[in-house]
Amino acid sequence: MSYVSELSQRFEAAAGVDPELRPATKPQFGHFQTSVALRLAKSEGKPPREVAQRIIDSVDVADLCEPLELAGPGFINIRLTEKAIADGVTSVLADPRHGVEPAAEPQRVVIDYSSPNVAKTMHVGHLRSTIIGDAFNRILTALGHTVIPQNHIGDWGTQFGMLVEQILTEDIDAGALTLEQADELYKRAAAHYRSDEEFAVLARKRVVALQAGDEQTITIWQQLMAVSKTGFNEAYERLGVKLVDADLAGESTYNDDLPVVVGELEASGAAVIDDGALCIFNEGFNAPLIIRKSDGGYGYATTDLAAIRRRVGPLDADRIIYVTDVRQAGHFAQVFAAARKAGYLPESVQAEHVGYGMVLGPDGRPFKTRDGVAVTLTSLLDAAEEHVARPIALAAIKYADLSNGLNKDYVFDLDRMVATTGDTGPYLQYAHARICQVLRKAEAEEIQVGDKVLELPEAAEQTLALLITRFGEVVGEVADTLQPHRLCSYLYELAGAVARFYDACPVIKSEGLVRESRLALITAAKDVLAEGLDMLGIEAPDRM
Ligand code: ARG
Repeated sequence: MSYVSELSQRFEAAAGVDPELRPATKPQFGHFQTSVALRLAKSEGKPPREVAQRIIDSVDVADLCEPLELAGPGFINIRLTEKAIADGVTSVLADPRHGVEPAAEPQRVVIDYSSPNVAKTMHVGHLRSTIIGDAFNRILTALGHTVIPQNHIGDWGTQFGMLVEQILTEDIDAGALTLEQADELYKRAAAHYRSDEEFAVLARKRVVALQAGDEQTITIWQQLMAVSKTGFNEAYERLGVKLVDADLAGESTYNDDLPVVVGELEASGAAVIDDGALCIFNEGFNAPLIIRKSDGGYGYATTDLAAIRRRVGPLDADRIIYVTDVRQAGHFAQVFAAARKAGYLPESVQAEHVGYGMVLGPDGRPFKTRDGVAVTLTSLLDAAEEHVARPIALAAIKYADLSNGLNKDYVFDLDRMVATTGDTGPYLQYAHARICQVLRKAEAEEIQVGDKVLELPEAAEQTLALLITRFGEVVGEVADTLQPHRLCSYLYELAGAVARFYDACPVIKSEGLVRESRLALITAAKDVLAEGLDMLGIEAPDRM
């Protein structure tokens, strides 16, 4: 546990309320401060200094702190002992998990992410889903949860009617296409469908043939699937994310479940016929959720209900997380409500939609190419890799994706994102590489790197040390809140503290135990930076 939580608990035991510990504003005020006595004094109608003294006398922190100080109108200044801080870092250093505590109750967590569409290249939206979902996967796995990724690709639906029909019209070998060529084909098919009524009729017939399992149609559909999977996997490999074929559970997975789901919903009365369509009415929504259209077709929502049914059933999930753009928030709110009503999603299972904002172009508008289509993932990576090497390019993009509130839009400004100064991924990589460089120097000069931190005389090293001991707590918060930007800000603060430490404290040029301790301290900082970056899916090279 970090010192903030430990001290908070002990003060709460003495004061009866959350002390709301704050980092001290100046080093002479110690490490933390609390104004809890001022708050209590109001409600108790007693002088604040008297209340503060009472808390100081009763709180049990002598093993960790210097004598507490009563300051000003009734503040309590808290200074950890040098030994307590040093021991904290030493234990992070000795811990292979660097202070990240395994969850007390490990869960089975389904994460639905990436989920691109077959025969279409992935665009910036899918890039965000893939990066964010991968970070959740890594963080929850690190905490000891069992993560079950589900790549809910769009591999079924009426669009396959026109795609297959277009392939037959053009007499091409679908198996020989690249994903880019399939994307082009998609556009031609869509244009053809709009302009040629005869073709549109054939395309609609082709949908029926696909659903009926017609051999030729299914073969072409499978070829399109294979081509798409190859393209998706290339993108995943390039991004260094953990998705594999075994995580694929596209919309078609649920085909056979759909009539069963509909039967169950009708039988339980959760769904009712309205104007020829089968609907679920949920309180608080202005339109019903359509389960079966009046023409008999099933939609996106029906598939999502079938997916929840499997995720709670055979996959045995305790928590289900969906990562899509924020515009689908309404869809998921309604699907969750319907699934609860239908009994597919018991209250014991948490379902969360994490919506992310748009990636904006330099002009502040949705990032589109000149002909108005969403920018592809590949072209973004290409652009970034023109500036810098791949690990740095990926750090730039992933960090930009994760370091702001997810639901905010962000501007894809490559020059800013790849800079090694400021709040960027490459800056954190650089902070890590610089520590490695100091450690290499120590090794070259045969200087002993301590495995214990014993002495931390300077304020700058104490600040750094305290931050290091907070890592586990921050990771736990991110897992609960699904807000990776908290981990980003923490790592940014840590990198800043390392820089201020270098300014204030010589390392190689210091001596004896202080030098050993400082080398151990930066080793712990390096470990935490590397581990934290890894949780964000970002590599931490030893040299830059
Ligand atoms: N294929 C969808 C899209 O590209 C995302 C699917 C998200 N997952 C889900 N279970 N609906 O927008």
